[in-house]
Amino acid sequence: YETFMEKEIAEQPFVIKETLRSRIEDHILMPELDDLAMEDIHAIYMIACGTAYHASLYAQYLGREWLSIPIQCVPASEFRYGNYPVDEHSLCLFVSQSGETADTLAALKACKKKNAKTIAVCNVLDSSISRIADTTLYTCAGPEIAVASTKAYTTQLTLLACIMLKLAELAKVEVNGYDQLLHDLKALPETIESMLGMEAQMKGYASFLKEQQDAYFIGRQLDYVSVLEGALKLKEISYVHADAYYAGELKHGPIALIEEGTVVIALATQKDVASKTISNIEETIARGANVILIKAKGVHSDKIAHQIEIPDIHPYLACLPATILLQQFALWSAKEKGCNVDQPRNLAKSVTVE
Ligand code: M6R
Repeated sequence: YETFMEKEIAEQPFVIKETLRSRIEDHILMPELDDLAMEDIHAIYMIACGTAYHASLYAQYLGREWLSIPIQCVPASEFRYGNYPVDEHSLCLFVSQSGETADTLAALKACKKKNAKTIAVCNVLDSSISRIADTTLYTCAGPEIAVASTKAYTTQLTLLACIMLKLAELAKVEVNGYDQLLHDLKALPETIESMLGMEAQMKGYASFLKEQQDAYFIGRQLDYVSVLEGALKLKEISYVHADAYYAGELKHGPIALIEEGTVVIALATQKDVASKTISNIEETIARGANVILIKAKGVHSDKIAHQIEIPDIHPYLACLPATILLQQFALWSAKEKGCNVDQPRNLAKSVTVE
């Protein structure tokens, strides 16, 4: 591979498989959490930075669907200076690839002081966060060298889906479509493998940004999590100004930015809200936007020239294949602009200072 980022994108089927190893039979196997008394938990906090924060937003969404406990996701840099009512009835989940991020570590220490129950999701064995948390669950992404996180993120999504299913089970909640979810989780390595074959199409779309300084990402519900991550990936390695919006928020301000040729990357993988997103997209097309649509099967609009379909998958897992396309889009946009893909300016792999 020319760059670590390309290598790490390609490794995703394997590392997702490793992360799922021994975790799924006809239910989720997570003995680390067997003793967690969900009846004692009154609030859940998800705390992380950057891409790991986006993974936490994903878990928050699943938690809101399945649990009747209030669940809040907060960037660690905000959490540590905010006044959150954490106590011994709080469950605090920290997500970090490196396990060394200063803000996440400080938030973890503060939660421990307040006697909260703490769980870490880390990629690096024996890292500071993994040593301090009461329980650590590991993603098996292997060393991630490129500053832009790819395989660590998708393994976080995979493990967090398992963790939220386990919490639902411990809380005695019956999850709708449970068997389908488990089936599609197990099939993730193959699904992701098939996405790697779509690179040529995303490479073609990346050339749309040749003359553009801005890109806007839109989506609803879980697609909003994916567009946040897609926009972060694009800005950090290609230096294109990229923003992510809830599709339904466009008309409340951002649509003023759309003009002839503006690149809009839209996601419509969540079928129950796809028609709403499609009409938001058509509003941008009417103002001259050049739209790339990443969509689930069955979602369609004749007005969108560039469409790419993800394989059939449970909607709660659709962000995984969609993210692969967004990673490829960012990668090729950066390469076309001659940027240093692995070592973008001003960024460090692990932010160990405030
Ligand atoms: O090691 P961590 O997961 O705690 O790092 C958090 C962020 O610094 C990290 O995800 C950052 O946003 C990445 N460069 C994004 O690609």
